[in-house]
This record gives sequence, structure tokens and C-alpha cells, in this order.
Amino acid sequence: TKDVNIGLFGFGCVGKGLYDVLNNSRNFSADISKIVVKNRNKKRSLPEYAFTYDKSDVLNDERINLVTELIDDVNEAYDIVTQALKNGKNVVSANKKMIAENLEELVALQREHGTSLLYEASACASIPIIRTLEEYYDNELLHSVRGIFNGSSNYILTKMFEEGVSYEDALKEAQDLGFAETDPTLDVGGYDAKYKLVILTLHSYGLYLNPAEVFNYGIQSLADFDMQYAREKRLKIKQVAKVFRASDDEIAAYVLPHFISEESDLYTVDYEYNGVIVQGAFSDKQFFRGKGAGGHPTGSAVLSDISANRYDYKYEYRKNGKHNGVRFSNDVDLKI
Ligand code: HSE
Repeated sequence: TKDVNIGLFGFGCVGKGLYDVLNNSRNFSADISKIVVKNRNKKRSLPEYAFTYDKSDVLNDERINLVTELIDDVNEAYDIVTQALKNGKNVVSANKKMIAENLEELVALQREHGTSLLYEASACASIPIIRTLEEYYDNELLHSVRGIFNGSSNYILTKMFEEGVSYEDALKEAQDLGFAETDPTLDVGGYDAKYKLVILTLHSYGLYLNPAEVFNYGIQSLADFDMQYAREKRLKIKQVAKVFRASDDEIAAYVLPHFISEESDLYTVDYEYNGVIVQGAFSDKQFFRGKGAGGHPTGSAVLSDISANRYDYKYEYRKNGKHNGVRFSNDVDLKI
């Protein structure tokens, strides 16, 4: 294994989470050489000399061989990640929006420069779903990958359903706990789940989806009335993301609120937890459940990618679509 020298971008909820997880990891040490942050006036938990405000301090430092990008701003994240890959550095990122919107280009950049971009933390945080799809299901024909991919929406729906908390108060809590995006419309509008779905589709079917072509409908307009109806019918309401084979040569994908019955594995996924159900032709059904948001769960997924860099792990994108021979269509029966 090789030494990993990290240049870290961002020291918010996930950056701090990673720092903590790294400091408390017993059998792994990696050196965070520099932390790049934007705001000079923020009070921080580390001494001033740990930080820099100039991204070229990391991007042009030859000793740094791994850039870890954990910032919020999508355009800035795109610049950092593409520049790092072009400069021959490997990258770990948790930025689902930036990744989903630029997947094809990011995959090509890595090939061109012999670098690698890993992003396990971008989809369902602590659930190791990307590497599982890549490796475990290597030879499996997948019927569908579906589940609850947004912790904030699930937190809000659970609070409304279990505790009768209002939508506004539950959203505020999700924000205070650091689960929600800076723009919470991304969470409650189903966009964040859609970005994760786009990423998982590449690792399930080898296909690049354009997020703009995938249908999403959020939870903003759900009212107490809907919760009441669900309770009466012994159902729960969950924001579900799904990609599935619509026919032999087509897949379809969407994000929508669903009624979930007690028989479904997703019924047990509450608060900030995420759940993923993978349905394969031969393996049948598997269910993964874990925390989908928060500093430590997300930081632990970032750490796992950092660790994978020591043995030069690279994604194969489900063997680049060779398994699958399917195309995306948004003109099919959604089979809700
Ligand atoms: N805002 C995201 C969520 C964070 O609530 O799931 C984790 O990606």
C-alpha cells in the first residue's frame, strides 16, 4: 500500500466528521496536509495554521496525492475536482449534485489522466452501495435498485408521521442537525435523491442518465391529511427513488412519494436512515439500511474511499455497460 497525503477542501459538517473519524481510526492513519476553506472569519475547532484560503496551495502541491472535496458550492467543486484530476491527483468527493451532473466527463477525465475519482459517500452516506453494486453484483442481471436515498426528507416524514410535528418544524430540525442541504429544496423536492439515483444507475447498468431527464416529485405538498390517511390504512409515506428494467432493453427511473406497507423493508427505514433494495435475477432481493446523512456516517464513507486509495482501487462502472445492453427511456409505464 502507498502513503496518502490529503489536501482537504471544506470543513463543514462532513469535513469535520471525516477529521474526527480519521483521528479515532485505530488502524489507519493518513495525513491531512492542508485544509482549504472559504470564510476567513469563521471560528474553527482547529488552529489557524491548519487552514489555507488559496486552492492552489493544494492543487499545485506535488506532495499531495489525494484531494478530498467536501464543499457545498457545485461550480467550485467542479473546478477543484477537474483541476485535481488534470494535475494527476486522485480525488474523493461526496458532492452528489456535481458528480451526477458531470459523470460522463469525470469518467473520461480519469481515463485521460490515469487518475481516479471515488465517491461512495455521495450516495446514501454510510451504506456501502456503490462498491457493492460494482463488486458483489459484478455478474448479476439487475431488475431494479430502489429505496430511500434522502435522509432529510425521511427525517421530516418520520417526524410528521410519528410525532405529529409540522412540516416546517421538522425541516428546521433536519437543518439544525446538519442533514439538509444549504438549499433544502434539493432534499424535499427530490433532487438530491435523483442525483444519487443517477450515480447508482451508472454502477447498476453502466448507463449515464442526464438528471434533467429523470422525473422527480417532492414531499413539499404533503399535508397532515395525507399522514392521517396513511395512518388509517397502516401505511407510511416515504420518498422513493427507483431505477428498474421496464423491458428487455429499457430502464426507467423516477423519484416520487410512495405509500409503503408494513410488508416492505422500507417500512422500517425512519428518521435520517436510508434504505436500498437491490433486486437481481438470480440473487433475488437484498436490503441495505444505514444512516444516510450526518457528519460521522458520511465521514466514515469518505474515509473508506481514502483507504481504498492506498491500494489504487478504481471503479469499473459495471464493466462500462457491457453487462446490460439497456437504454434509458422516460416514456414507459412507471409501475408505481
Ligand atoms: N441532504 C442529504 C440528505 C445529505 O438529507 O440525505 C446526505 O447526502
